[in-house]
Amino acid sequence: MKLQLPVKIVFGAAAFAVTTLAAASEYGYPLPPFARAAVAVLSEVSCTNRFQHMRQLATSASQAVVRPNVDTLYSTAVIDLSHHDVVVDIPVVKGRYWVFPFYDAYGNNYANLGSIENSKAGKYSLRFNVGGKQNTGVQLCSDPEKCDGLQGYVNAPTPYGLMVIRYAVTDTVGDLQQIHALQNQSGLHTVEKGDGTTCKATAPTLTMSMLNSSLSADPAMKIMQLTARIAPHNPPRNITDLARVNHMLKESGVRDGVYKPQKGQNLTASYIASEMTMSKAASEPQNLHSLGNGWQELTPTAQGDYGENYAMREYVAYFGYLALRATEALYPSYSTGQKGLHLGPRESYIFTFPSKPPMAQYGFWSLTAYNTEEYLIPNTLNRYALSDRSNLTYADGSLVYDGNAHGDGDGNFQLLVQPADVTPQRTGCPSMRQSPSSMFS
Ligand SMILES: *[C@@H]1O[C@H](CO)[C@@H](O)[C@H](O)[C@H]1NC(C)=O
Ligand SMILES: *[C@@H]1O[C@H](CO)[C@@H](O)[C@H](O)[C@H]1NC(C)=O
Ligand SMILES: *[C@@H]1O[C@H](CO)[C@@H](O)[C@H](O)[C@H]1NC(C)=O
Ligand SMILES: *[C@@H]1O[C@H](CO)[C@@H](O)[C@H](O)[C@H]1NC(C)=O
Ligand SMILES: *[C@@H]1O[C@H](CO)[C@@H](O)[C@H](O)[C@H]1NC(C)=O
Repeated sequence: MKLQLPVKIVFGAAAFAVTTLAAASEYGYPLPPFARAAVAVLSEVSCTNRFQHMRQLATSASQAVVRPNVDTLYSTAVIDLSHHDVVVDIPVVKGRYWVFPFYDAYGNNYANLGSIENSKAGKYSLRFNVGGKQNTGVQLCSDPEKCDGLQGYVNAPTPYGLMVIRYAVTDTVGDLQQIHALQNQSGLHTVEKGDGTTCKATAPTLTMSMLNSSLSADPAMKIMQLTARIAPHNPPRNITDLARVNHMLKESGVRDGVYKPQKGQNLTASYIASEMTMSKAASEPQNLHSLGNGWQELTPTAQGDYGENYAMREYVAYFGYLALRATEALYPSYSTGQKGLHLGPRESYIFTFPSKPPMAQYGFWSLTAYNTEEYLIPNTLNRYALSDRSNLTYADGSLVYDGNAHGDGDGNFQLLVQPADVTPQRTGCPSMRQSPSSMFS
């Protein structure tokens, strides 16, 4: 899932005080996307702690998620650790990027097992870290024999969550089959809680009705409804913030799993105020840094795992829900002033790369175009992205990636993105001796 280019959200000139209700709205903002994602998975596999495997790369017909990529296959599961621990089975994956990311109920990517982390295949026990007693995240066993055969533990900050496994697809023949085999070897199964609280529920069972019944169509109200249902059982990422959060929710009108509007509150105004706060936070230097030439990216504390940075958690829930931590993925975006990258009917973009982007082992990159609905754009070439796997060429026609992603082949290369019904322009681009690699949208 990619971060959309940051479009500045501009509201009326009125400056709203950040009220307690606005802070609650900011806090609960990631819960509607959580509910939407969980409902989509549960509708397919009908229970929590079970993978739904995506077997084909996304096309323009794929409209289940916005901004799908064409680089990886996903396996997704809704996690519920309220009554059980869950054993995660990880297969042996060779020669490709892969990651098993763990998300809490608020979209924090609090742990990753995968190629970047050099994780071993085998069994890991995923458990709710009640009261923050252990360190949240991955805790490896030095000797699996002494850990009931486990490679380690994954301590979750909340009992509810998501896993969205990604396997990078290579361009070799039969690669999808190989990924299907990996998907089939991966697994989740529930086991008795290992911490002695067997049979003692730490939260209610996560149900479809909790996620989907009688939700308001008003986005501000929907946030508060889901916050009232989910937040009391799903503590903040940083447990030291628990008392403050509980107080804030209570003051806002969240009691006994229900939100009751309080006298003098204006929910709409609070919701708008929270979006203004997030919009402002997203331009602050501790959250966003410039890469030069109009390109920028979120800082590591503002992407994927947010601690108490609730404004950026809200921002990414809006623009790129389930973004990975910066150790796994980078999402550079482009914006000059108010204008992001938006292609008009008679416009084209030429992207010039001064050299091959540096990548980790098994790393990859891609440039993907989306329509205004955030879906892939149908075209007769069925080409949705250009990437290191697209037979890109230098101006002299030689391959940029000649089987060696990390080799010395150097110099700049260019990508052209433009509508399919316009003949590519070759003038006005003096450095180009040949047409650059093209993507027609
Ligand atoms: C994976 O499992 C599915 C469903 O059980 C099956 O249809 C498919 O043949 C399996 N694929 C591989 C490569 O194991
Ligand atoms: C979720 O709720 C909506 C509105 O009540 C309903 O139309 C839809 O069928 C529900 N989805 C599921 C999967 O239950
Ligand atoms: C609540 O705030 C909205 C947005 O500022 C405003 O349009 C509306 O009039 C307010 N409602 C009340 C009852 O004050
Ligand atoms: C949690 O809160 C404490 C105290 O405010 C702070 O020192 C720590 O850095 C926070 N951790 C995270 C992950 O935000
Ligand atoms: C790249 O070129 C090879 C060899 O001509 C071809 O087999 C492959 O399909 C091409 N890949 C793409 C994405 O066009």
